[in-house]
Amino acid sequence: MCGIIGYTGFEQAAPIILDGLTKIEYRGYDSAGIAINANGKINLVKTVGRVQALYDRTHDGKDMPGVCGIGHTRWGTHGAISERNAHPHMSQNGKFILAHNGIVENYTRLKADLLAKGVVFKSDTDTEVVVQLLEANYTGDFKEAVIKTVAMLEGTFALMITCADYPGTLYAVKQNAPVILGLGEKENLVASDVTCLISRTKNVIYMEDGEMAEITTEGIKLFDFAGNPKEYEVKTVDWDIASSEKGGYEHFMIKEIFEQPQAVRSAISPRIKDGKINFGEKSLTAEDLKKFNRIIITACGSAYYAGLAGKFAIEKLCGIPVQTELASELRYNESGCIDEHTLVIAVSQSGETLDTLSAIKDCKACGATVMSIVNVVESSIARASDFVAYTYAGPEIAVATTKGYSTQVAVLYLFAVYTAAALGRINSGEYTKLVSEINAIPEKMETCIEMNGGIECMTPLFDKAEHVFFIGRNTDWAVAMEGALKLKEISYIHAEAYAAGEMKHGTISLIEEGTPVIAVCSNMRLQDKTASNIIEVKARGAEVTMVGPKGCESEKQANHCIYIPEMRDVFAEIVTVIPLQMLAYYVAKARGCDIDKPRNLAKSVTVE
Ligand code: M6R
Repeated sequence: MCGIIGYTGFEQAAPIILDGLTKIEYRGYDSAGIAINANGKINLVKTVGRVQALYDRTHDGKDMPGVCGIGHTRWGTHGAISERNAHPHMSQNGKFILAHNGIVENYTRLKADLLAKGVVFKSDTDTEVVVQLLEANYTGDFKEAVIKTVAMLEGTFALMITCADYPGTLYAVKQNAPVILGLGEKENLVASDVTCLISRTKNVIYMEDGEMAEITTEGIKLFDFAGNPKEYEVKTVDWDIASSEKGGYEHFMIKEIFEQPQAVRSAISPRIKDGKINFGEKSLTAEDLKKFNRIIITACGSAYYAGLAGKFAIEKLCGIPVQTELASELRYNESGCIDEHTLVIAVSQSGETLDTLSAIKDCKACGATVMSIVNVVESSIARASDFVAYTYAGPEIAVATTKGYSTQVAVLYLFAVYTAAALGRINSGEYTKLVSEINAIPEKMETCIEMNGGIECMTPLFDKAEHVFFIGRNTDWAVAMEGALKLKEISYIHAEAYAAGEMKHGTISLIEEGTPVIAVCSNMRLQDKTASNIIEVKARGAEVTMVGPKGCESEKQANHCIYIPEMRDVFAEIVTVIPLQMLAYYVAKARGCDIDKPRNLAKSVTVE
């Protein structure tokens, strides 16, 4: 979604801000802008489309002198995608310039008041209200204008503001949207995303809700919304720049697919010591786990499908009922069943997905304990949780998640085995076996990637299709759903996943001569069952590609085969998903799609 970057220092700001905007392009956006505050004059350039247009229009930033400024990528919510609605927005007298992430919920009323006072608006956004309010509340003191303005706002807002009367000064405000401050050498930065800071500094301050910061070259001052000074803690980011660059690959997505064995290793190995799973000091103990009679896993999109893989593993190994709930639905659940005996596991790569964040806040209010499985350290979901297990996937840039998903699944598998042992549901022999199987996952993933080195040649089976159906049972159904999502989000081919046994209850009527069906068949326990579903769809004309180990029953029935290494059902999803990710990637490539930044999508979804 929207991204913000701000810089104040000793170097020319525009090239640094443009570079920062490039690094947050992956979040998804439709327009972009940059403003430089130089000696009391604001220079503003905005564009619809890519950040490259800002480079072109400013000669790579060289045309914009000055050492302080802000930049923004917009994912429109209020008002059409247009230059006038792009951020930053300027106040009527040209003194204030502001970029905003989030939604000002009471903007209609505030706008009506300003219109009544004769303010002329240049955009259709909720954001412009804020910048006009800054001007209205300004009596010569920048900080005071920010305090007065923020007190009038309701909703979610990460704001970055500069004022022509204060060259070299930025104000950042945080309320329910991420803001990270970067402390450099004679320069300081602000961003919505740590990936655009790491090329300049690894020393960061994660702002909390209800805080505002004054950023100058001399330093950073933190205040609450009333303007009272606050202490801050500087943390060090351990992500390196190389991991947020393409490193010779054509797209981030394929790089991240191939990075999965290593990413999963990073998620697993720090948590297995001497054959024992250890989630660290601040994790749920056996005593904590005993008090729960149900687990709810909540998430959105692929993270939800990762949660589904976790459900199968936890239920099978621990015998505890696990519900998976879409966070956007859980938020409005009125069952009243969530209480202090409920463990809620929130799964999120970005840690900023608003639906997931709101769902866990509501569950906590009902007495539930929240554990989150999150990639981005110190993200909002991590901070709102009672316990956090990081996935250590490193920066994930492609909008379509791959290593984010597989590391989430890996942590859920570990959690399943850890909980089963803590509750005495498995004996020590079974525990040792399960731990060694988890340890072997990265190698199986490597083998799977190797086995599918030639998968690109299968793209003609799918790249002209209007619809592709995915079928599978149990754990394979969980993977089928993730495979279908991967294909549709990046190739724009309609893809649906069905529980294989469910097709004959309605969906089979969609099958006609030549309809491509992908049958996921890694689950050896259900081989024969899925094989009969393959026969059913083939009889109606489907062209079936099975994904399973060599020699399985489905191999005999399918028209085409994609092979994977043999795995035990309980841990199969993490490997089985790989060829589906690769296939989606190559199909999207054959169709000439914008793979890393699919249309209409954003990497972190910070609106409801
Ligand atoms: O950052 P999160 O894991 O909370 O994001 C949740 C979904 O938006 C995300 O998994 C989305 O479905 C992916 N882009 C799909 O590839």
